Amino acid sequence: MKTRNILFALTLAITALTACTGKSDEERFVDNLMSKMTIDEKLGQLNLPVTGDIVTGQAQSSNIAEQIRQGKVGGLFNLKGAAAIREVQRIAVEESRLGIPLLFGMDVIHGYETVFPIPLAVACTWDTQAAETMARVSAVEASADGICWTFSPMADVCQDARWGRISEGFGEDPCLSAAMAAAMVRGYQHPECSAGQQLENPATIMACLKHFACYGAPEGGMEYYNVELSRYRMFNDYFPPYRAAVEAGVGSVMASFNTLEGIPSTCNNWLLTELLREQWGFNGMVVADYTAVQELRDHGIAHDKHEAAVMAIKAGMDMDMVSEAFLLLKDKDMQQYVNQACRRILTAKYRLGLFDDPYRYCDTLRCKTDLYTAEHRQTARSVAQKSLVLLKNENNLLPLSKNTRIALIGPLADTRPNMSGTWSVAATPWRYKTLREGLQDAATDKNNVLYAKGCNLTYDPELEARATMFGREMRDTRTDKAMRDEALAIARKADVIVAAMGESSEYSGECTSRTNLDMPDAQHDLLVELRKLGKPIVLLNFSGRPVVLNWENENLPTILQVWFAGSETADAVADVLYGDCSPSGKLAVAFPRSVGQLPMSYRRFRTSRPMDEGRDEFSKFQSSYIDCRNTPLYPFGYGLSYTTFEYSPVTLSANRLNIDQQVKATLTVTNTGDCDADETVQLYIRAMVSNPVRPVKELRDWQRIHLGKGESRQVEFIIDKHMLGFYNADGVYETQPGEYRIMTGPDSQHLQYTSISVE
Ligand code: BGC
Repeated sequence: MKTRNILFALTLAITALTACTGKSDEERFVDNLMSKMTIDEKLGQLNLPVTGDIVTGQAQSSNIAEQIRQGKVGGLFNLKGAAAIREVQRIAVEESRLGIPLLFGMDVIHGYETVFPIPLAVACTWDTQAAETMARVSAVEASADGICWTFSPMADVCQDARWGRISEGFGEDPCLSAAMAAAMVRGYQHPECSAGQQLENPATIMACLKHFACYGAPEGGMEYYNVELSRYRMFNDYFPPYRAAVEAGVGSVMASFNTLEGIPSTCNNWLLTELLREQWGFNGMVVADYTAVQELRDHGIAHDKHEAAVMAIKAGMDMDMVSEAFLLLKDKDMQQYVNQACRRILTAKYRLGLFDDPYRYCDTLRCKTDLYTAEHRQTARSVAQKSLVLLKNENNLLPLSKNTRIALIGPLADTRPNMSGTWSVAATPWRYKTLREGLQDAATDKNNVLYAKGCNLTYDPELEARATMFGREMRDTRTDKAMRDEALAIARKADVIVAAMGESSEYSGECTSRTNLDMPDAQHDLLVELRKLGKPIVLLNFSGRPVVLNWENENLPTILQVWFAGSETADAVADVLYGDCSPSGKLAVAFPRSVGQLPMSYRRFRTSRPMDEGRDEFSKFQSSYIDCRNTPLYPFGYGLSYTTFEYSPVTLSANRLNIDQQVKATLTVTNTGDCDADETVQLYIRAMVSNPVRPVKELRDWQRIHLGKGESRQVEFIIDKHMLGFYNADGVYETQPGEYRIMTGPDSQHLQYTSISVE
């Protein structure tokens, strides 16, 4: 009650001041509140501890309760459940002196209880509406259950599959990643009815763009490692998705763990202040990553925690996740920084409507009706269908008829907790179907789906334990031979072997760097044995990253990349396997032939000794490997369908582009196969002569279209100076006159082109 009265009085005082100060309501509210705060209360707002341990009914006695009462906490994260959150919020609102409500954050990365595919898989839909819808459904569910802030989207471009967190981003390309990141911000923050009025609707949540910046380019693909990039490459290859999220109005940004130019992002003034705020105009709050402030000591850049806190806040950090280092910032000369950070955090709370109603995100009714609904599940299922990528399909082995007798084999075939994929904090895996259940439900007769696990994830139990953390244990205690014999016996009875193999959920994600991307040993050996039976094999490859599939590509007729497609994985895979829909995903990141090619991207720079066009095998004194082809096994943008598409040549409305004009590029795409399907038509550009040197090609636009069997459609792209330009090393965008190649096609390697000259 006390709090409500204080807040009410504040609101009245503010209204009275409105006319004369010229400040917004928001500013006046925050000014007023801050004028009542002690330095300790301000520091408390900057403090973000984690709470995995508060059980509903026990908030009062939790060790965090006293800190909240004393006003030493600004928010909490990863606490699940509207009732528990409500209880904790009540302590803040009713038992602390000023009653300032807490922020409740969570890593809602690709869904809440309804889990969507991992973000890398969502990027493979090339469907920004799918990404926006995923974020929208996530926001509806999370906000119904007490959460008002998510640590998503992760917009870290990554060209190196060794890095396990490639699963959480949108792949190797800045243009595709930018579109996906912006779509997710819209989905989280914008109410459907009136775009622009962000966060007004209580079914929206504040997004957090992460990890700023360039976290996806660690040296050697090693987690948390140093990043070394020229500014030219930062601006062109890594920054566009961050910038797009800022332009979409993202409310908060998380700094990354890595160093960049020798400075950890957590205390990097250029990144957090000059670039983010001054150049890009970001006006939200910046949060540190988990214990990153105190880790400035471990980086060897700060002597102690206090110095670490000073460096971080001076660089532009507002909120300190878990380190409790900002609580030490009582020095007088720190007050201007503390005031600024506190203001930004209170402003975020104001924008979230928490001062109007601190319980607006813990509606005890909505949390009963809005989670894991049939509608949300259906949406997740259709996004999952679109995210699967058909890598190979010899003799149209897929789709299978629902009468086919299948031997479903592999460590991923009958596991529930591994379907949702990494970073699914709020998932309820006991409710999700296993693949085996999904296929059995879809088959005409469930006895048509035989099953054997066949092997463990790997022979190495220690590696398996690391790859199945967080309750995703799956190791079988039978001998390798017993498991294999059982699988071979089952396979002999079937017409087709469907192998569900690859990585487990936690084989990718945070701190899962790999130096070897082959199919894990035990699974590879089992595939070799299965192949000897001479039956057709469909590999359903689970992984949170591109892996090396050379042997599989050479020896198996069909490979469907299924990633981790979320809570509805089983049904979505069955839909595609049995042909209820055609696969339509296209790779958002290339699959290499060898780890030694990494990092790799189709956007490679032009060299002084390039390979001849169309060649990618060794050529002396030209950029090539002596022991491996240059190209990836499966290129960026690639993905097959159950049908085939024919592309007409492209025509341009003009061959010359005055720098301020537009030119239209037109082509016709025809579905020449036997079923209706979606195709993603891609457009790339190349500057023929430029200074500085630019990549051999750059994705600039695409269209995902639906074509009925036999149907043709005209696809148009608008080419303007922005599409042809680039950022210089100062971050200034420019377009140079000269010749450009305009390339279109179904993936980054199979392109036809025409030319345009820019004056
Ligand atoms: C991760 C972040 C995440 C945070 C909070 C960190 O380890 O790097 O992405 O948001 O934990 O869970």
